[in-house]
Amino acid sequence: MSASTPSDPQASGAPDVKIHPLLTGQKALVTGANSGIGRGVAIALGRAGADVMVNYVAGDESAHAVVKEICGCGVKAIAYQADVSSEEQVAGMFRHLIQEFGTVDILVNNAGLQRDAAFRDMTLAQWNTVLGVNLTGQCLCAREAIREFLRRGVVPAVSCAAGKIICMSSVHQEIPWGGHANYATSKGGIKLLMESLAQEVAPLRIRVNGIAPGAVRTPINTSAWQTPEAYTELMKLVPYGRIGEPEDIARAAIWLASDQSDYVVGTTLFVDGGMTLYPGFSTGG
Ligand code: BGC
Repeated sequence: MSASTPSDPQASGAPDVKIHPLLTGQKALVTGANSGIGRGVAIALGRAGADVMVNYVAGDESAHAVVKEICGCGVKAIAYQADVSSEEQVAGMFRHLIQEFGTVDILVNNAGLQRDAAFRDMTLAQWNTVLGVNLTGQCLCAREAIREFLRRGVVPAVSCAAGKIICMSSVHQEIPWGGHANYATSKGGIKLLMESLAQEVAPLRIRVNGIAPGAVRTPINTSAWQTPEAYTELMKLVPYGRIGEPEDIARAAIWLASDQSDYVVGTTLFVDGGMTLYPGFSTGG
């Protein structure tokens, strides 16, 4: 069977490229990888065969513990401290990444935080910190990654794409969240950043997608699950009846990073136990 190419619109079937089942030999950067979802994704990438840079902004020990765990999978891992909201620090991080690993194939734009406040009390610092890390951070890292993907191009022995970017969003890219206007705004921004980038760079064989986690058991939201009362309240919002674990998100990330999802472009994968299904309407409305 002949390969279909863009200049051969009548040819049928998938392009004649090798679909790699996992991530052997790929180089990944995960931001905010010393805890929570980022940690889970970084470890899963290592298990899937990728070398991983573990970015963190604070917490050397936890970052080095993640590195140690990843190295136990027989791949390379390095920790790198950088604030993703700083253009200079992000540029330095990518220089180091390329120096150490030669290139990068996968960016998981994960670093994110909350600075919650009633809107009338929200300070400009709370607003700027959340938008700076959650949204500008993804923009700066994506720009550096795309530049490197384009410099290197497709290496068929590694992946059939020139590069993959996964933008960690949230159900709050859809669900408005009073008391968290800065956070919800950042996630709504990530949705359109991700989609606009995906549209722009897909012709260059770069795939950009998003993951929208629901309530996941991480340090960002301990108040939502730590006590039995809070957990019971939380479950009213989760049709599937359990909190998410970082591994639930990690499995989705591995799939989106691999050639298994080669035709998935500009999509947000909701991994939320049904939180976006308006569970209140199962009995009301
Ligand atoms: C937030 C968590 C919250 C979850 C569901 C996430 O994006 O970071 O604090 O529990 O959304 O509301």
